[in-house]
Amino acid sequence: MGGTPRRPYYAGPNLDRVESIADLRARAHRLMPRFVLEYLEGGAGEEQALAREREAYADWFFVPRFLRDVSHRSASGQLLGKDARMPLAIAPTGLNGVFMLGADSALARAAARFGVPFVQGTLSNESMEDIARIPGLRHWWQLYVFGGEEIWTELVDRAERAGCEALVLTVNAQQFGMREWDSRQRGWMGLPHPISMLNSALHPRWAATTMVKGMPSFPNVIDFIPKDKRSFFESASWIRSQMPKSLTWENVARIRGRWKRPFFVKGLLHPDDIRAARDSGVDGVILGTHGGRQTDWSVSALDVLPEARDILGSDKALYMSGGIRRGSDIIKAMALGADAVLTGRATLYGLCAYGEKGARKALELLEHEVRNDLAQIGIDKLTDLDMSYLRPAAHLATANGQAPG
Ligand SMILES: Cc1cc2nc3c(=O)[nH]c(=O)nc-3n(C[C@H](O)[C@H](O)[C@H](O)COP(=O)(O)O)c2cc1C
Repeated sequence: MGGTPRRPYYAGPNLDRVESIADLRARAHRLMPRFVLEYLEGGAGEEQALAREREAYADWFFVPRFLRDVSHRSASGQLLGKDARMPLAIAPTGLNGVFMLGADSALARAAARFGVPFVQGTLSNESMEDIARIPGLRHWWQLYVFGGEEIWTELVDRAERAGCEALVLTVNAQQFGMREWDSRQRGWMGLPHPISMLNSALHPRWAATTMVKGMPSFPNVIDFIPKDKRSFFESASWIRSQMPKSLTWENVARIRGRWKRPFFVKGLLHPDDIRAARDSGVDGVILGTHGGRQTDWSVSALDVLPEARDILGSDKALYMSGGIRRGSDIIKAMALGADAVLTGRATLYGLCAYGEKGARKALELLEHEVRNDLAQIGIDKLTDLDMSYLRPAAHLATANGQAPG
């Protein structure tokens, strides 16, 4: 902003000097090769949905209250009726193995040690049974429906046997978004593009922590993949190509019928879809745009939260994901009606920068900021939030005599 000196982020090796998620991101950018950063940061198409994910928070400003006792405030909350250190879960992200070897278990351990759930993705790179063994973990499984009926039924049954607490069905990626950066990274015969390989060779620290056993694989689904398509890139493409475009609420009903524990549908935005979810027997909805990676130019979860809350009432859980980088983002989401949020990139930046400790640091930073923000706006707990603490930026511009831009 005008007059403020440019402030560098801390991107060095000392975790104690990290002050914000932006610092973790700066170090991730220093350490990760180009193709990994494209994968981590990229959105679909012109990346307007991705941009909206962050801009949506700027549409809301706080109206703080003072002279109220906030000495006992807490960032804690509840997820599925159980206490959590924050009303937050680590979002499912596929292909975590490109960030480091053992990335899924590092994220899961960070979640368990901090005290929030971890949602493991169908496209994760470690077996769900191994992750399930992590002490104290609240382990949720994210399901993609692909291939024949036998695949999702087996994955759902395995998740039940592994003790997963909840199932998250992602429905907004049956047709993968147009991710041009992704196509550009690909070379021939299932290998990355030679320029990507050269760039990766220039990141020896990444190579040493990630490629020691070669490219990652997809142990949870590898047996379903044809033998000649089991290289890393080919597996991912094959799975995408097998995702039925005919998925409907009938499939949701069948999965609901098989899975008896808490069941979420992830990736909704349209009010009629949220109504359909409410009427289909799911336990909750996770609003979101897949981190801006699916429908370009779509609204963000934050934009539709109040309407979604009205539709779902208090019976169904309403979670959201997209653009959470600050404690204030969590507070805004909850004031607008969310029961909880999921973080994708914030914890991934931490992971890329410092491994498990970095992912945990991301959670600690968010908690620290939430606690500070609660004091700033004059409340003790997140469940006391409501829209009286927010004013829309457009309304403020009008009130100041300026036309909303
Ligand atoms: C690298 C990456 C991979 C992702 N993979 C999946 C996935 O396999 N399944 C899924 O449901 N969502 C996936 N997502 C979306 C996340 O679950 C989450 O909705 C999104 O990251 C939230 O936005 P944020 O990154 O700004 O927090 C992915 C997101 C990213 C950034």
